[in-house]
Amino acid sequence: MRLDKFLAQSSIGRRKNVRIYIKEGMVNVNGEVITEPAIEIDENSDIIEYDGKVVAYTKKVYYMFNKPSGYITARIDTVNKTIFEFLNDAQMKGVFHVGRLDKDTEGLLLLTNDGEFEHKLMHPQKHVEKTYCFWALGSLDDKDKKKLEQGVCIGKDEAQTKPAKIEAIKYGIYKEFRHEMFIENLNDIDSYLHNQPVVSGHLTITEGRKHQVKRMLKAVGCHVIYLKRISIGGLMLDESIKKGHYRPLTELEIEKLFE
Ligand code: URA
Repeated sequence: MRLDKFLAQSSIGRRKNVRIYIKEGMVNVNGEVITEPAIEIDENSDIIEYDGKVVAYTKKVYYMFNKPSGYITARIDTVNKTIFEFLNDAQMKGVFHVGRLDKDTEGLLLLTNDGEFEHKLMHPQKHVEKTYCFWALGSLDDKDKKKLEQGVCIGKDEAQTKPAKIEAIKYGIYKEFRHEMFIENLNDIDSYLHNQPVVSGHLTITEGRKHQVKRMLKAVGCHVIYLKRISIGGLMLDESIKKGHYRPLTELEIEKLFE
């Protein structure tokens, strides 16, 4: 592996900073100062020191998972089925989910063993956008949209939500759109909904409060019946990944997350 990649993956810093450290002579390989970032090292046998301290290597892994509805975002649970039922044990040592999706929410969930990565994506002050596609009972007029964009109150003793983006795409009656919704297990209550107004759209938020999208839409009189996360930062869910499946992120995709 390249020396700069090794140091970046070992949480010494971003690739471009790490290259500077190497050029400045802050990195030793087997006791020798190395100033060439692209040099190949063997991460299993070479001793790499940065700023006088040996760097312990853990290979960082990043996966995109297409979460199905009906599973909770947790490693273990005594009652519910968890997303880890879909994940290969050997690959998942030390791996955790980046944030959570509700049991009935589908879509883009990231998995990693890199705590720094999680912090950069999930900390509210980092303002990383997460976009959700929703179907809800109810309707959204311009006033509601403005409220959602500016911030709404979603709970007693809670601050207003941060500015969000809302794009309402379709309005109509439930029975007209039933075939477009991907909702499972709705048949029991289906007939009660037939003539109800429905709205679908995309809501983009930068926070990650519990049930935030559902509570924001509830604050303007809408009841979410389907929710799917479709993007984080500049990264879209790869729709070719079937529900319950996952694959490693490419380097380009990791960069896109932070765009
Ligand atoms: N907002 C919600 O209400 N639920 C989720 O799963 C994610 C965001």
